[in-house]
Amino acid sequence: MSHTYDFVVAANRLPVDRVTGEEGNEGWRRSPGGLVTAMDAVMRGRDGAWVGWAGDPGEAPAPFDDAGMQLHPVPLSEQEIADYYEGHSNDTLWPVYHDVIITPTFKRSWRGAYRAVNKRFAQACADIAAEGATVWVHDYQLQLVPQMLRELRPDLRIGWFNHIPFPAVELFAQLPGREEILEGLLGADFLGFQRTEDAGNFLRAVRQYLDLDVTGDVVDLGERQVRAAAVPISIDVEGLREIVESDSVQARAREIREQLGNPEKILLGVDRLDYTKGIRHRLKAFGELLADERLDPSKHKLIQVATPSRERVKAYMDLRDQIELTVGRINGDFSSIGATALTYLHRSFDREEMAAMFAAADIMLVTPLRDGMNLVAKEYVTCCADDGALVLSEFAGAATELSDAYLCNPHDIAGLKQQIMKAVDAPAPQRRQRMDSMRSLVSENSVQQWAKNYLASLAAAPKAPSTQAAS
Ligand code: ADP
Ligand code: G6P
Repeated sequence: MSHTYDFVVAANRLPVDRVTGEEGNEGWRRSPGGLVTAMDAVMRGRDGAWVGWAGDPGEAPAPFDDAGMQLHPVPLSEQEIADYYEGHSNDTLWPVYHDVIITPTFKRSWRGAYRAVNKRFAQACADIAAEGATVWVHDYQLQLVPQMLRELRPDLRIGWFNHIPFPAVELFAQLPGREEILEGLLGADFLGFQRTEDAGNFLRAVRQYLDLDVTGDVVDLGERQVRAAAVPISIDVEGLREIVESDSVQARAREIREQLGNPEKILLGVDRLDYTKGIRHRLKAFGELLADERLDPSKHKLIQVATPSRERVKAYMDLRDQIELTVGRINGDFSSIGATALTYLHRSFDREEMAAMFAAADIMLVTPLRDGMNLVAKEYVTCCADDGALVLSEFAGAATELSDAYLCNPHDIAGLKQQIMKAVDAPAPQRRQRMDSMRSLVSENSVQQWAKNYLASLAAAPKAPSTQAAS
């Protein structure tokens, strides 16, 4: 291998996806999701490589440079996309790790594909990591990589971070192959989670299913020890501030308000179209508030951005149908000619347009049923006006830090409606005070600081006895 790196990141997705246009022309576009938003900001300006899938089936493109980052694509076949990515990762692990909001599907053949693809990622990392390098593995798609990589390269320092929740033992218990996952993760030197509760769930599962000694947050494997602790992720505060403070984005924010007819309040939801995000609950609450005449469709406008996601997985197709039906009903009942109550946008936008929407919105609705962190909440806090208001689900990891938000339980539609109205009616000084405290909190822990904290914990992990590369 001609290149070796002292720092390697492995995530299912590369920060960019390869797309083929209608005329067969190939291009690249930014990949969706919070992991990419966070790690893209961390990796820019840092020497290192990113190992991941380029988002399409078949042969992987050759390694290439993207704005200073070295990208090393890993190939996935059509069948592996169906079995490893859409199947085991997103139709088994994703629902189990998000409180079984939908019933997970368990298929033995999917587990085989998961194992094979994890092996490929481990090999790709082993091939490019320098002697004694740090390899940082990410998320639920790659939980077997730490152990597989340790077997290939015991000289490496291996970390893993979970961007999503880690489930309670009672739910984790459902997973066929649960021991294999725990053993896979324990190949790392340090395991990072969004919340202390997630780390605790992992440690309890280790105690229960592997019968290992756990003292505090440390698992004792005899020859080595593995720590599992919370390192809550954040956003690129400075980068985003620079974008939102630009004249063009501020002008665009004003234009958005004008285009909506200068309403009294703009409410905003921004999510991947995912059943974990509570979009249906939010729309129900909004529709009922209009029907109750507590909100007025000529004065209160909702923009709902729903980014296309995992579009071949049935639960996602069904959700899209349900959401679009509800959007149609709300607009049918409450819109008038030239004035829609609810603007629904099912596509991706660039960072400037997203920042302009955040800046324009008076009230942000973040109502997931379960979410590892939810970066959108932190992005809104960074971009909104001084008297913006955040309605935030207690079930988002962000609620631990952003306790000055208007917290809600999205399952309780009456309670959710009440919190939305509280945010709508709150006096400006109250909103300002709450936003001010949340803003300081977010700016104290940027994504760059998060990476620093994570890597410091990884570096502080006890050294493994063997530092020899396997031949
Ligand atoms: P998740 O990782 O589950 O998608 P997060 O809220 O943590 O949820 O992160 C979502 C990220 O994707 C945020 O950075 C957000 O700004 C971005 N995003 C969401 N929707 C869009 C969209 N339609 N276009 C561009 N970026 C989007
Ligand atoms: C979440 C997950 C990421 C994933 C992203 C987008 O943020 O934690 O691992 O990349 O969603 O989902 P996708 O399936 O499109 O990669």
